Amino acid sequence: MTAILARRTMLAGLAALAMSAPRVPAEAGQARAALPPLSVWRDPYCGCCGAWIAHMRAAGFSVHDRIVAALAPIRQRLGTPSDLLSCHAAEVGGYALEGHVPAAAVVRLLRERPGGVRGLAVPGMPIGSPGMESPGTPPERYDVITFDASGRHAVFMRFVGGDPA
Ligand code: CU
Ligand code: CU
Repeated sequence: MTAILARRTMLAGLAALAMSAPRVPAEAGQARAALPPLSVWRDPYCGCCGAWIAHMRAAGFSVHDRIVAALAPIRQRLGTPSDLLSCHAAEVGGYALEGHVPAAAVVRLLRERPGGVRGLAVPGMPIGSPGMESPGTPPERYDVITFDASGRHAVFMRFVGGDPA
């Protein structure tokens, strides 16, 4: 939690710096406007889901946070394979997301739009992934996985904690 707060404070500081430079705000505004809105479905008792939402908001996404009783129907609509499940489902720019996917991977997906990809998943809840930071515990290495309409998987990016590895 401390790490998240520290990072948020740092991001706020960077944003303040950017605002003081005359040319940066227009570019930053364009980058932000280019990100499609993101919807998240989660159950009301999920704390790490809220921390992931904060991570996505800090990266510039506008997030619709939707509390639901059951995620299965949403995952079925999104086409999320049942062997890649985590704690929350999300949708952005026509793509499905599952779990603690780092914003950097989502931004890359939206920029590159690789053919056949239906969504990204981080199965389970790896320690150190965005929203799963645990001070004093070393971050895990984990894969961000793409899936297609037939449920086939491929590794899209590899991370250790919040950083590409
Ligand atoms: Cu979680
Ligand atoms: Cu979650």
